[in-house]
Amino acid sequence: MQLFSSKFKLGILGGGQLGKMLLYDAKRYDLHTKVMDSNFEVPCARLADEFILGDITNYDDVINFGNKVDIITVEIEKINTDALLFLEKKGKKIFPSAVTLKIIQNKTQQKEFYQKNNLPTSRFKNYSNIDELKSNFEKDNFKFPFVWKSSRFGYDGKGVKIIKKFDDLNFSYDDECLIEEKISIKKELSVIVARNIDGEMKCFPVVEMEFNDKSNLVEYVMCPANISSDIESRAIEIAMKATEKFNMVGLLAVELFLDVNDKIIINEVAPRPHNSGHHTIECCMTSQFDQHIRSILNLPLGETQVLIPGIMVNLVGENKVEGNVVYQNINDIFEIPGVFIHIYGKKKSRLDRKMGHITIVNKDISKAIEIGKKIKKKIKVIS
Ligand SMILES: Nc1ncnc2c1ncn2[C@@H]1O[C@H](COP(=O)(O)OP(=O)(O)OP(=O)(O)O)[C@@H](O)[C@H]1O
Ligand SMILES: [Mg+2]
Repeated sequence: MQLFSSKFKLGILGGGQLGKMLLYDAKRYDLHTKVMDSNFEVPCARLADEFILGDITNYDDVINFGNKVDIITVEIEKINTDALLFLEKKGKKIFPSAVTLKIIQNKTQQKEFYQKNNLPTSRFKNYSNIDELKSNFEKDNFKFPFVWKSSRFGYDGKGVKIIKKFDDLNFSYDDECLIEEKISIKKELSVIVARNIDGEMKCFPVVEMEFNDKSNLVEYVMCPANISSDIESRAIEIAMKATEKFNMVGLLAVELFLDVNDKIIINEVAPRPHNSGHHTIECCMTSQFDQHIRSILNLPLGETQVLIPGIMVNLVGENKVEGNVVYQNINDIFEIPGVFIHIYGKKKSRLDRKMGHITIVNKDISKAIEIGKKIKKKIKVIS
């Protein structure tokens, strides 16, 4: 089937920044795109060929959308999977599949999946609510500190708490949740794997993520990661195995912990383009977005090697009160060589909202990191 400059329609559920960057590459191929989101102010709204207002968590909205496109992909996990299952049964092509998405949507199901498939992950225990956790706490024998997570709807570190003492569990939570042993992390790594319908797989080079201690948000992504070749190959092996076990088509971003004893375990995965792959636009032969499109259209995958090292700096809202966004001092960094600025187009900023990112490339990664950290201090995203 002729995919480009044709009537073929690529449907994307969710209209955020990941969708926006996916649209850049879709446009490069002159693919016709249709996006659905419940908010007309999202980054994709003015870029997609067609934009539909609709709720991606609503059964009927997803069905109606699905009926109007040839293939469906997602840029966020929180989709109504019952609707996707129904569409799949009718023969609609959906990547990631409804079953894969349903497992990944729920952190407890993810953990059980790793256990079942012999993929390394931290010890955990799941509960149907916080009261069940508290009444089983003694018996389940977790040492302080440990990590509490909501099973569903967590993102950007929201829904993750470090529990240092029993009293820290004094909050109400009436939905599925889990606790995990707290890993002594040496580095947080990420590997993005692409797999097309024929099963061809390619991995992007392993990156290192640095988090903000307060917000739990990724602050920096460094490519390539400063790790030994042994650690790199073990990380890639785990990520590829996870991709195969999930029967993934599209991208699977695998977030890994390297612990103080150099053991590698899976933290969680995302079946879509990921914040830890934004640098691929400037640093790698093929971007993660291009690769996602190739995978779901069953085209040969692109080369993933690093053309130039780099660091990605997230721009996040700094003020609690929501208001019109101002990117303070942004004009001053245009003169720095190797700086690429991405503004997502969200009009309102608020605390910890991802508003944009900056990639700094340099033949010398330590120079890129130095510039990146200076830029992070200089730019203020205020409202
Ligand atoms: N078991 C653990 N041990 C130590 N630290 C952890 C553990 N689980 C999570 N963390 C820390 O909390 C961060 C966020 O956890 P997680 O990735 O599960 O949440 P999230 O809300 O889905 O995050 P995001 O959307 O940013 O990927 C991790 O990147 C890590 O820094
Ligand atoms: Mg995470």
